[in-house]
Amino acid sequence: MGCSPTHFSAIVFILSVLKAYASDSYIAAVYEHSVILSEETNLPVSPEDALELMNKNMDVLEIAVKAAAQQGAHIIVTPEDGIYGWVFTRETIYPYLEDVPDPQVNWIPCTDPERFGPAPVQKRLSCMARSNSIYVVANIGDKKPCNSSDPKCPEDGRYQYNTDVVFDSEGKLVARYHKYNLFITETYFNYPEPEYVTFNTSFGNFGVFTCADILFHDPAVVLASKLQVDTVLFPTAWGNTLPLLSAIQFHSAWAMGMRVNFLSANTRNSSVDMTGSGIYGPNGPIAYHYNTETENGQLLIAQLNSRPHLSPTYPPAVNWSSYATSIKHFSPTDQDFTAVIYYDLFTFMELTKIEGNHTVCQKDLCCHLSYRMAEKQEDEVYVLGAFDGLHIVEGEYYLQICTLLKCKSTDLKTCGQPVATAQTRFEAFSLSGTFDTSYVFPEVLLSGVQLAPGEFQILSDGRLISQNGTSKPVLTVALFGRWYEKDPPHPQQASP
Ligand SMILES: *[C@@H]1O[C@H](CO)[C@@H](O)[C@H](O)[C@H]1NC(C)=O
Ligand SMILES: *[C@@H]1O[C@H](CO)[C@@H](O)[C@H](O)[C@H]1NC(C)=O
Ligand SMILES: *[C@@H]1O[C@H](CO)[C@@H](O)[C@H](O)[C@H]1NC(C)=O
Ligand SMILES: *[C@@H]1O[C@H](CO)[C@@H](O)[C@H](O)[C@H]1NC(C)=O
Ligand SMILES: *[C@@H]1O[C@H](CO)[C@@H](O)[C@H](O)[C@H]1NC(C)=O
Ligand SMILES: *[C@@H]1O[C@H](CO)[C@@H](O)[C@H](O)[C@H]1NC(C)=O
Repeated sequence: MGCSPTHFSAIVFILSVLKAYASDSYIAAVYEHSVILSEETNLPVSPEDALELMNKNMDVLEIAVKAAAQQGAHIIVTPEDGIYGWVFTRETIYPYLEDVPDPQVNWIPCTDPERFGPAPVQKRLSCMARSNSIYVVANIGDKKPCNSSDPKCPEDGRYQYNTDVVFDSEGKLVARYHKYNLFITETYFNYPEPEYVTFNTSFGNFGVFTCADILFHDPAVVLASKLQVDTVLFPTAWGNTLPLLSAIQFHSAWAMGMRVNFLSANTRNSSVDMTGSGIYGPNGPIAYHYNTETENGQLLIAQLNSRPHLSPTYPPAVNWSSYATSIKHFSPTDQDFTAVIYYDLFTFMELTKIEGNHTVCQKDLCCHLSYRMAEKQEDEVYVLGAFDGLHIVEGEYYLQICTLLKCKSTDLKTCGQPVATAQTRFEAFSLSGTFDTSYVFPEVLLSGVQLAPGEFQILSDGRLISQNGTSKPVLTVALFGRWYEKDPPHPQQASP
């Protein structure tokens, strides 16, 4: 036997290096799912028919779960509404709901399915996780009976919640999150009390929230900054809204602004403009998918840091106003005009030259831009814009935004309207603003609705810069600021 102590310690050393390496990173998967919708969402269906539809969707999700596990993924995120779809009433969603217990009960639905009454969906998701040894994140509906002993109990005697569930690699329910910031169309769900749902694993500390939650302080910002999760799990059904709020653009920007990993799984449906899923890190996108060609689903898999804040490449904290408040305003701003981005009236100025330094202000916010185009195209107009105000359509939230964008046409009235392609290349740009908030999300979106990983930088003085230009023409460059202190009360708190 050649097992001398020297050899032995060498082996131990190699093993411990491998182990340290393994626990520093993990493999994540997200699945963009083209949801099979019910043909009938105006009339209630039987529980059997509801389960049949959900099984059709879970058949597809199961194939993705298996494929992800075979490629070594530790966790897979599937989309919001990915199992039963959308556009229900309180009554017609009911057959799709299951009572989801508090994870503290320590339950593996796969091995003990009837413990809390019928739970075929939780059982199937739990078995998917268990038989493939992978964490599975899914979005389902939770129902909680109530009665007149509870003054807030809805008339139909139950609460209904849009709910994310997480099953660990043994099939145990480890997280249950009730969506707090419902979208205006989700009248069939109730607002819960705010919940801050996290769970810990050998590959990092995780937090969960969903879709419109990303626009608000609770629970999203609390998870990322106070509870310091390493990775956010984000099932979503996100309709793309250019020029500032397409899925890949905003979700990757949030990950950079908050300096967390972010696993976003969107649904795919062209008639409601839903596509765009990704695996994003604090330094930018790692993998993403944006598809307007087909109605197909798509699996994305990538490796990322388990604990990004311990990594040598973790970006430093940013003071978003430091540079902008330290310089003199560039040009006089008598050429300003106003135009609308998604119901908000921005102040704009046109970039008429091939290069320049400009400032545009609205209320307290001044935005500075230095830029150099490769060439000035006659048929394309770019503008610098500022917005400082309360957005009030489809949710109320206070914004401070600086943006460079391509107008839809050469008519300045169209500035801010959605446009997906461009021809103008920028050789360099630097954008900054006098923000009153420390929550700013940096966006760079290129022609064809593509991201620009590695092609721009965030300086710790708050400048978003590209020194060498981007690989494709520019659609939007933005510093998307959220001033949460100025938000009106959450509807749940505001209701009588
Ligand atoms: C009302 O609900 C509470 C808790 O949910 C339960 O303990 C109680 O038995 C219920 N009362 C009636 C009359 O159903
Ligand atoms: C998570 O678990 C790790 C060990 O696996 C531990 O070092 C860390 O403190 C835990 N984090 C939290 C937030 O519980
Ligand atoms: C997409 O969603 C719309 C609206 O809910 C629906 O009418 C349509 O059938 C869906 N498309 C597909 C391919 O499922
Ligand atoms: C950011 O920088 C500005 C200007 O240098 C300074 O006044 C402000 O205190 C800084 N903010 C923080 C949070 O450090
Ligand atoms: C913009 O400002 C930079 C740095 O101050 C300067 O080098 C450049 O010449 C200016 N460009 C124009 C067109 O004024
Ligand atoms: C920009 O290009 C120069 C010259 O090729 C190079 O030295 C520099 O590292 C590049 N900067 C970035 C941020 O890629």
